[in-house]
Amino acid sequence: MKDLALDIRVEKAQQSRINEVDFNNITFGKTMSDHMFVADYRDGKWQDLRIVPYNSFSLSPATSSLHYGQSIFEGLKAFRNVQNPEEVLVFRPQENAKRLNVSAERICMPSIPEEIVMAGLHKLLEIDKDWVPSTPDSSLYIRPFMFATDEFLGMRPSETYTFAIITAPAGAYYSKALNVKVEKEFSRTAPGGTGFAKVAGNYAASLLPAKLAAQQGYDQLLWTDAKEHKYIEESGTMNVMFDIDGTFVTAPTIPVEDTILRSITRLTVIELIEDMGHKVEERHISVDEVIESIKNGKMRGAFGIGTAVTIAPFAKIANDGIDYELPADYTFSTELKAKFQGIQKGEIEDTKGWTYKI
Ligand code: PLP
Ligand code: COI
Repeated sequence: MKDLALDIRVEKAQQSRINEVDFNNITFGKTMSDHMFVADYRDGKWQDLRIVPYNSFSLSPATSSLHYGQSIFEGLKAFRNVQNPEEVLVFRPQENAKRLNVSAERICMPSIPEEIVMAGLHKLLEIDKDWVPSTPDSSLYIRPFMFATDEFLGMRPSETYTFAIITAPAGAYYSKALNVKVEKEFSRTAPGGTGFAKVAGNYAASLLPAKLAAQQGYDQLLWTDAKEHKYIEESGTMNVMFDIDGTFVTAPTIPVEDTILRSITRLTVIELIEDMGHKVEERHISVDEVIESIKNGKMRGAFGIGTAVTIAPFAKIANDGIDYELPADYTFSTELKAKFQGIQKGEIEDTKGWTYKI
């Protein structure tokens, strides 16, 4: 990758803003690093690949993505290698580049070659390396995204797009175990929809139900299937895993279900759990089974999994107005998180080739 001959123009910021950041007290997604990678899609090809100082885009009020939501994004993280602080480790970036194109296809956007994404990411992180934190539970959150840029109000796929990568130092997303609510009124997506794709509209659709749940004291929702509200799908920013008597159950993603994002953390965690000698089942899991398992003591624990949240244990699950407490002495998710983060940060040997070095 290092000798990838892609022509990326570099314009450096005159002054770094890094001294304004308190790396011991980072709010997720609030402060962006000095530079961003940008590429434009025009005349049927990606062009003008560039690293420029982080700055606003100038957009026409008729920019089609603002009206019709042709907009997708990804999320991944970079860490300072604990064994060699000069080195930065990015976790499974090729998987994000692939999923970006899965999302692009679903909403009629052009695909972007993995080589462009990887070369842009590589160069950006080389330039903004100092922004990768080394404080505990921290990382550099990386946000690649693509949006339609045609100045046109007619309803059709845009012919022009911008792809960009911005980055932001990040601390822990959640600081405590979560209270989650089974959502049975609203739906985030439906079969045949865009749930498996990381499209902006999915997140817009989840805002009101999440706000209503927050007003009742819940941190997140557990989405259920749109047809019957009978099966657990995933949560707002994470897939979900239930530990039922030592077997780890998680809902299936594509190609079985097209309503759930195929989490890269989940792919990772499934392998880790299996390597730890436990059984993982990717299958439909009903709300009734979850509640029954809590009531009869078989539910040892449950947790969310995702890039931003890492491994986020649940304290309570609410269903039909009743709060069900999960065992407070559950330690597996902490052990799993230590293993997962150990690999991400180079503390534990990466035998799977998951980390990409810069
Ligand atoms: N599900 C949703 C809806 C998400 O937004 C995310 C976050 O990206 C995830 C699951 C977890 O996916 P990943 O592990 O690839 O970050
Ligand atoms: C991520 O985990 O990368 C996400 O995209 C979640 C985000 C909505 C905060």
